[in-house]
Amino acid sequence: MAKKSLFIITGCSSGIGLALSSKLIENKENCVLGIARNCPFEAENFIFKSLDLAKIDLVKEIKFPDIEEGYDAIHLINNAGMLGEINTLDKIGLESLEDVISVNYTSAMLLCTKFIQKYQHLPVAKTIINISSGAATGAYASWSNYCASKAALEMLSKCIEIEQKDKASPIHCFSIAPGVVNTNMQNQIRSTPIENFTLLPKFEELHRENKLYSPAIVADKLIEVLQNPKRFMEKVFRIQI
Ligand SMILES: NC(=O)c1ccc[n+]([C@@H]2O[C@H](COP(=O)([O-])OP(=O)(O)OC[C@H]3O[C@@H](n4cnc5c(N)ncnc54)[C@H](OP(=O)(O)O)[C@@H]3O)[C@@H](O)[C@H]2O)c1
Repeated sequence: MAKKSLFIITGCSSGIGLALSSKLIENKENCVLGIARNCPFEAENFIFKSLDLAKIDLVKEIKFPDIEEGYDAIHLINNAGMLGEINTLDKIGLESLEDVISVNYTSAMLLCTKFIQKYQHLPVAKTIINISSGAATGAYASWSNYCASKAALEMLSKCIEIEQKDKASPIHCFSIAPGVVNTNMQNQIRSTPIENFTLLPKFEELHRENKLYSPAIVADKLIEVLQNPKRFMEKVFRIQI
């Protein structure tokens, strides 16, 4: 009988995370543990953990499942993310700034650490994918805190990959920028007033010209990486379709 795979996916309720979770549960040998504030669906092989990733004390308390015999792969996909208020720092409100760092970086960093400590010793395939962004390396006005959070996450991924290289049972760690994807995050970008975001016309044009990737296509690419991590020599890359 085929062995099972466990996928721990944050931000499973919408966009890329929803597409990925929906595709993975089609295979009954897969078990998805989805984390978000809103539950997207119910399924026999889907476990939902309701959690606000901005609440770092709660993230520290998460317990990952003990793996029964029969699992041959365990994966963590840190996908949850938020832009927060899109505005330049001279005008931005202070309210959402900390949450952007907590959701995009601190919670993902804690989940990576907990995943490594819990599963390092297991002789099964293990992968972490941290969902990055072009904003990890490119500076964008009005996204400064988002850019900083994604830069931190990308550096964390690179360090994990170096730490894991010589382990007996290494965890493959990727930082993957998904491209511009047709999700709620893009709706938020396009509904920002131009006086707060001078790059608005560029994102309106991409949408008008149908140049956004579908979440389903991005999910297919992520599944390809999860199924064949050794085939992807570059651990930091942007999805090109
Ligand atoms: N869309 C793009 O063009 C694009 C480009 C580059 C990178 N990305 C990255 O791709 C990832 C997925 O984004 P998306 O485009 O699919 O956006 P989305 O449709 O807005 O989905 C965001 C997901 O993150 C979860 N989330 C946000 N805040 C949370 C919190 N406080 N606690 C728990 N979960 C939270 C949401 O769940 P709940 O609201 O249910 O909690 C939702 O499932 C993000 O990391 C984003 O930075 C997206």
